[in-house]
Amino acid sequence: MSNTSKALGYESVDAFLEECLREKPPEEVKKFYANWAANYDKEVKEIEYNGPELFAKSFIKLNVPQNVKIIDIAAGTGTLGEKLNAMGYKYIDALDGTPEMLDIARKKNVYRNFYQFFLGCGYESPIKDGTYDVAMWSGAFGQGHIPYTAFHEIIAMVKQGGLVCWLFEYPTEQNDEENFKSVMDDLTDNGKWKAIQDPVCLDEYLNHNSGMFYAMKKL
Ligand SMILES: C[S@@+](CC[C@H](N)C(=O)[O-])C[C@H]1O[C@@H](n2cnc3c(N)ncnc32)[C@H](O)[C@@H]1O
Repeated sequence: MSNTSKALGYESVDAFLEECLREKPPEEVKKFYANWAANYDKEVKEIEYNGPELFAKSFIKLNVPQNVKIIDIAAGTGTLGEKLNAMGYKYIDALDGTPEMLDIARKKNVYRNFYQFFLGCGYESPIKDGTYDVAMWSGAFGQGHIPYTAFHEIIAMVKQGGLVCWLFEYPTEQNDEENFKSVMDDLTDNGKWKAIQDPVCLDEYLNHNSGMFYAMKKL
């Protein structure tokens, strides 16, 4: 049993992950991550989460210039921002719903601006349309996190020709997969974006399960 599951009162890693990935309202998500924030960076390794590393390795293959403006969505404690900063990307902003997670991210000095709100949950976004060249996120999509319908808000933040990239565990429940596919297809069919490559399956994303990396271009 990991320290994470013990410290937060869960019997096992599986029970902890089940709670983490359970559909819940933003206030509960906020409480969950507020409790975890101080130990997130250390303990996330214990649940075998390799999202930021795998995202960075896939993103670098896209050859995106280093001077682009990036929004790291659901940035949490800044684990992805650190990787990108080390790769030479210096204009990165952070968005997350949990203030305690962003407080840790602030200390890392890899982000310029911070936005604290829950995306896709009916709150008005303070981010102006067309601000970023790239919107990205790792490990925060689907149940208990960013709803798939938030694609609309995310695309709005990005400039025309900009990229929307994410890495997540592909939905396992049929309903959830259907929701994901239907929002993706709707955006493609309506000419909002197109894939710049096929989704890439990456091993050892979370708890020995694989993840999928997507890269879409806003049209
Ligand atoms: C597992 S952490 C991921 C952090 C980081 N991206 C990483 O890969 O380590 C999930 C983060 O998503 C945030 N989050 C969950 N739902 C959100 C939403 N709808 N809008 C903004 N942030 C959200 C949580 O506050 C938490 O910090």
